[in-house]
Amino acid sequence: MRVLVTGGAGYIGSHTLLELMAQGHEVCVLDNYCNARPVVLDRVRNLSNRPVTAYTGDVRQATLLDQVMAEFAPEAVIHFAGLKAVGESMRDPLGYYDVNLGGTLALLHAMDRAGVRRIIFSSSATVYGDPEYLPYDEAHPTAPTSVYGRTKLAAETLLRDWHAAHPETCAVILRYFNPVGAHPSAQIGEDPSDTPNNLMPFIAQVAVGKRGALQIFGDDYDTPDGTGQRDYIHVVDLARAHVAALRYSAEHTGARAFNIGTGESYSVKQMVAAFQTASGQDIPCQITARRTGDIAAMQANASRANQELGWKATHSLADMTQSTWAWQSQNPDGYESD
Ligand code: NAD
Ligand code: UFG
Repeated sequence: MRVLVTGGAGYIGSHTLLELMAQGHEVCVLDNYCNARPVVLDRVRNLSNRPVTAYTGDVRQATLLDQVMAEFAPEAVIHFAGLKAVGESMRDPLGYYDVNLGGTLALLHAMDRAGVRRIIFSSSATVYGDPEYLPYDEAHPTAPTSVYGRTKLAAETLLRDWHAAHPETCAVILRYFNPVGAHPSAQIGEDPSDTPNNLMPFIAQVAVGKRGALQIFGDDYDTPDGTGQRDYIHVVDLARAHVAALRYSAEHTGARAFNIGTGESYSVKQMVAAFQTASGQDIPCQITARRTGDIAAMQANASRANQELGWKATHSLADMTQSTWAWQSQNPDGYESD
């Protein structure tokens, strides 16, 4: 299939490009590089030995979208482009709604004008909010606790309403749990532009000597070792979920949400121990106060994705930590190492 990938130069997008091309799909990227570098796509081209057409610009630009639709004529769109920092979303709600909801709206308008009927959307487990039960299944109530989460839920609603008015369409909503890890080549990976907000890139920067110590945000949660538990998923497994979703979208109509996680969870202390083993480096840690808005634990029930998408995560915790370390140690300054 010809697939337009918005935000394709980003962390998850770049890994997905490689998996799509490995399965014979033709890809085209639209990215404004607000959180990525064009060199990412050079690495993707080298690794795949395939051309990747890229348009530089904002997903909210209708004229650019019309140009891409006319020139590339996609059969489906994978929509990664968006903003994802929870803290920043609380300080800049309008900016987050503008990009995350406005971007999805502009894209659907352009798809309608061009007659494109299939979209795969990057949502998040954060749409569930405080767990009423775990593991979350897709029927769990949605009550996101951040502006970021509410922009994702609003975009999900928009996609459902779009589908309801156009029954021949398919919107696949993927609710990601905690993506970590890097491509086995160690050529592409997560490259936060600032101090990492997330656990794994922070640990990796401590291991490589860029930061002194990891702050563990609370060890008094109601979990076995007191630290927060998450369902970490290898980014290559996540990328493959998009390939499966694309196949699903060719065979189905509807607007359907899928949890994309492993169904297992690990604590902060377990992640640190696993990373120490993978890297052979000591990771100094300090216990600090809980981070506002954090929940104790979350975990996916991914059986719907397993059954209906025919997808299952296959990478282990060791795969996650080893690939992160290979990427970080070979690219200590991320893509700036080029
Ligand atoms: P990322 O920041 O690495 O990738 C997003 C890409 O979109 C970047 O290349 C950025 O330059 C581009 N972009 C942002 N705004 C744009 C705009 N207005 N126009 C065009 N391009 C734009 O993030 P990621 O981790 O790869 O996440 C991809 C998607 O998955 C996002 O929508 C994010 O909200 C969602 N998601 C991520 C996580 C996570 O923990 N990484 C979890 C759940 C959901
Ligand atoms: N943590 C630390 N120290 C750090 C960073 C994180 O102890 O420096 C802890 C957190 O308290 C939490 C765990 O590590 O217990 C994981 O934290 P992350 O920030 O890596 O991940 P979150 O689960 O908090 O958030 C992620 C994404 C959000 C998304 C959410 C749900 O960053 O965008 O998953 O999908 F909304």
